[in-house]
Amino acid sequence: KDPTTGFEKVILKEPRGSSAQVLLYGGQVTSWKNERGEELLFLSSKAIYKSPKAVRGGIPVCFPQFGGGSQGSLEQHGFARNRLWRIVESSVPLPGNNDAAPVTSINSSNKAIVELLLTPTEDDQKIWPHNFELRLRVALSIGGDLTMTAKVKNIDSKPFNFTFALHTYLSVADITEVRVEGLETLDYYDNLDELKRSTEQGDALTFDTEFDRVYLSTPNKIAVIDHKKKRTFILKKDGLPDAVVWNPWERKAKLMADFGDEEYKYMLCVEAAAVEKPISLKPGEEWTGRQELSAVSSSYFSGQ
Ligand code: BG6
Repeated sequence: KDPTTGFEKVILKEPRGSSAQVLLYGGQVTSWKNERGEELLFLSSKAIYKSPKAVRGGIPVCFPQFGGGSQGSLEQHGFARNRLWRIVESSVPLPGNNDAAPVTSINSSNKAIVELLLTPTEDDQKIWPHNFELRLRVALSIGGDLTMTAKVKNIDSKPFNFTFALHTYLSVADITEVRVEGLETLDYYDNLDELKRSTEQGDALTFDTEFDRVYLSTPNKIAVIDHKKKRTFILKKDGLPDAVVWNPWERKAKLMADFGDEEYKYMLCVEAAAVEKPISLKPGEEWTGRQELSAVSSSYFSGQ
């Protein structure tokens, strides 16, 4: 059990020193560190680790519904993020003391891996009357790339639809010096304007106010450039056609009990998602969505 959260977790490590942590509550990645031990994900200092609250930060899994209100009848972002998942597979466990979290190191394919599973309880099926298996495989490669593969299988006797997102909270040094490239010229829904559909103009995204948009059918590569930190995140995705970009900014930050008033300066959510067109699965069918995150220092590009 993790002393801060009280929830069980798994730690992934690779020989060059990067690491990741996955909480069984929510099947949620809550830490991803590079070889120098620098944290790459945002996790709020005010995060609440108590069911049914979802943990504010890291990479929550939104399933079987992304969003809330007019986007569906379930609680906001679905229930997967506040349920207990279980471990079904992990790569080489390292020896550790019994009280510590299990640590996994690389396997023969040079990845530290954990695979988690969520299946619905009877109570869950009262809220969403479908039987499914949701698997999340988290893999850390040598050098620190983090790949998350989600699979949803319909094990019911009737078809179902769902929407989905990997709600990644990236850590940034100063949101006003961040640019997002790869979403220019695309259509988006604006969550701050009653889901009105607009088209992004030709420039990279920059941030100076609250931002909450769902970009539709995006390219499968998005770059988040943190000028102050001299770091670029590359997000590659597959099976997740849309991308949500969110920063609550000052006013909304103050309204969230589990988010520090100033913390909006240090985070940006860029979420690989399937929102506009729900995924439909017939009995026995399986869907796969994948995202790969890497973080490179900007000097890598400029050759400095
Ligand atoms: C984003 C949504 O994905 O998640 C926002 O686009 C929402 O509208 C945000 O505010 C956080 O949601 P929650 O439920 O974790 O507070």
